Amino acid sequence: MKIHITETDQSRISEVDFKNLQFGRVFSDHMLEMVYRDGQWQEPEIKPYGPVEFKPSMQALHYGQAIFEGMKAYHVDDETIHLFRPKDHHRRLNNSAHRMCMPKIEEEVFLKGLEKLIALDHQWVPKERGHALYVRPFMFASEEYLAAKVSNEYRFYVITSPVAAYYSEGFNPVKLTTSEKFVRAVRGGTGEAKAAGNYAASFLPAKTAQKKGFTQVIWLDAIENRYIEEVGTMNIFFLMNGKLVTPELTGSVLPGITRRSVITVAKDWGIDVEERRVSIDEVIESDRAGKLEEVFGSGTAAVISPVGLIHHDGETIRLDEEKIGPFAKKMFDTITGIQYGKLADKFNWTHPISID
Ligand SMILES: Cc1ncc(COP(=O)(O)O)c(C=O)c1O
Repeated sequence: MKIHITETDQSRISEVDFKNLQFGRVFSDHMLEMVYRDGQWQEPEIKPYGPVEFKPSMQALHYGQAIFEGMKAYHVDDETIHLFRPKDHHRRLNNSAHRMCMPKIEEEVFLKGLEKLIALDHQWVPKERGHALYVRPFMFASEEYLAAKVSNEYRFYVITSPVAAYYSEGFNPVKLTTSEKFVRAVRGGTGEAKAAGNYAASFLPAKTAQKKGFTQVIWLDAIENRYIEEVGTMNIFFLMNGKLVTPELTGSVLPGITRRSVITVAKDWGIDVEERRVSIDEVIESDRAGKLEEVFGSGTAAVISPVGLIHHDGETIRLDEEKIGPFAKKMFDTITGIQYGKLADKFNWTHPISID
């Protein structure tokens, strides 16, 4: 496979304040672009990051065929960068593509494209522990056609962005509330795809929750309005009765890569892990009985995010609002230790990229 590379003649890296990185605001010098037309993907290209031309009739803008992924690359040493579980992100991208009637991408093209792009922009991978290069692959329908139909043309891009540690000033437990009025996804819908529209639909409920002083919505299932699904951009775990419980993947929950990593590590520690339906009432009862030990979210951005409070229908569960629990901390240290190459990668999760 050939990737045509056009290097920038004016790097922007010297303009970046690596000490004050805001998530998703700064983009590295290059991007990968690949066009799908006439029933196939054309050769990928790496070019300077910059404006992309399209027409107002482009289908993605009207009918929403748009999907994305999010993963991170970590600085290990001056010769090595670790990409975390890129094959799993590739598989999920293709599953999202399938649900949204979009074309799949070959694993080799995806991996080689990422390797070349990240190696070229290796100086953009922040060196400080906790910092990383956020990698955002995305695909959208690009045919110029005002018809609510499957597009015949697509574009695929990968852009990257240096990001600071999520918890640069210590862990900040999130405050969650259920939503009385809204749901995120319904079984049979698009909840298990990483489709752009899922996020647009979550903004109004999230804004409503934030006005009431909560950080995010904890989503309940759309049918019985009882079973917990996930949170904002995280999956959720409950340490109760000595067991680690997380909602099962019913089709309306995004299958998080970090979720899978947490399950694998916990099982490796000999913890009982249950992937099953877990109702909000069960969590409240477990708290009342003094059996709810810790609650935390999992996702690429924060890795592990402690939950300090859950509000539902007039009831409030208060966990430790000041800090992260010992189990969640140990999980955070283990997963990030593997990501930064400080702990043995016994599950084969890291994908080393060498910088030549
Ligand atoms: C809705 C939603 N749930 C869960 C997650 C966590 O997934 P991952 O661990 O793959 O980042 C994300 C982030 O991608 C998300 O957007």
